[in-house]
Amino acid sequence: MMSKFMEWVDARFPATKMWEDHLSKYYAPKNFNVLYFFGSLALLVLVNQIITGIWLTMSFEPSAEGAFASVEYIMRDVEFGWIIRYLHSTGASAFFVVVYLHMFRGILYGSYQKPRELVWIFGMMIYLALMAEAFMGYLLPWGQMSYWGAQVIISLFGAIPVIGADLTQWIRGDYLISGITLNRFFALHVIALPIVILGLVVLHILALHEVGSNNPMGVDIKKTKDEAGMPLDGIPFHPYYTVKDIVGVVVFLFVFCAIVFFFPEMGGYFLEKPNFEAANAFKTPEHIAPVWYFTPYYAILRAVPDKLLGVIAMGAAIAVLFVLPWLDRSPVKSMRYKGWMSKIALVLFCISFVILGVLGVLSPTPERTLVSRICTAIYFGYFILMPFYTKLEKTKVVPQRVAG
Ligand code: HEM
Repeated sequence: MMSKFMEWVDARFPATKMWEDHLSKYYAPKNFNVLYFFGSLALLVLVNQIITGIWLTMSFEPSAEGAFASVEYIMRDVEFGWIIRYLHSTGASAFFVVVYLHMFRGILYGSYQKPRELVWIFGMMIYLALMAEAFMGYLLPWGQMSYWGAQVIISLFGAIPVIGADLTQWIRGDYLISGITLNRFFALHVIALPIVILGLVVLHILALHEVGSNNPMGVDIKKTKDEAGMPLDGIPFHPYYTVKDIVGVVVFLFVFCAIVFFFPEMGGYFLEKPNFEAANAFKTPEHIAPVWYFTPYYAILRAVPDKLLGVIAMGAAIAVLFVLPWLDRSPVKSMRYKGWMSKIALVLFCISFVILGVLGVLSPTPERTLVSRICTAIYFGYFILMPFYTKLEKTKVVPQRVAG
């Protein structure tokens, strides 16, 4: 009965072919480690955001007069509204935790190198779209930090010569952030950007499956195949990795649910304290800081004394990641076989990124500004010097086959 039905479908739509190409006959290296959980976890969080987002939209009111009160209504009166909202707000932070670890894995194992440049580029486009999505979503509850955070970020566009003032007005749709801004951010947050992100995720995975997955050793599994033409060091994604990924999902959900149920504000890092007060255009909060996932870039912005140069440095800090595949000139992919210079550079880069993140949360002092300048220099140094140290250093020989 079932096979007859599938025959009927397959004659009209490539369902079985897609299942085989992307799951049951997609051969992935057999040596994936825990860092390979974060791709499927990013998918899980994406689905969570879309589903909880749809239900939030059912009770949210996108107007300056009603937005804050409608969030309170969701939290207090809508059945299970509180859990839907916390799943969505915690999901936003979880998305960035997962995506940062996913990107770190890519950098550690050289997954951006040839032939996976487009996988990386699509990933970076997702990252950009995700930042825009999170920024716009944060304005919606219309709290003090929603309002003033957006005020700070939108005013950065004002630093652009000639068109700056008109551009900020165009983004806001008004002379100041108002219900009009809220309305357009709502449209972009619930429709436009989710479509873009979903489309990019499809492209990201299609590009990956075209060339095949990398692995912690950076060994090309397509080089050694059996008589049937299957990679000897590969295993079908389904059932092996679909089942393995469930382990990652369970562990993730334990941590995620613990946060949703017991620490949804995460000490003011996931939901900032001033956001429990409605937006007030006449009362600037004492200390304005973006949510934690933006703070490394915010610290870079503040490290540069000139506003325009600061904006350029912040943009460059993200833009430079796009060209990473062309900066790394190492003959090997994985950090396991790279030389000591790459290893030290990556450790310094990660430390400075975290320090910048911490400094971006805190109010600036002369000492903190000095530290953020040093970390900004390390951040950019990592990329600018990469073509040299990856070319100069001595690398280890990569084994022909995957070990273990
Ligand atoms: C919504 C966000 C994202 C989703 C749902 C997603 C999904 C995935 C999935 C399912 C995989 C295959 C499984 C794995 O290797 O972990 C993957 C691989 C990969 N992703 Fe993403 N990704 C996202 C964002 C990003 C970002 C922001 C980057 C980097 C800028 C990136 C770079 C990569 C790379 C380089 C690979 C190949 C890794 C390898 O083969 O070693 N992804 N992604």
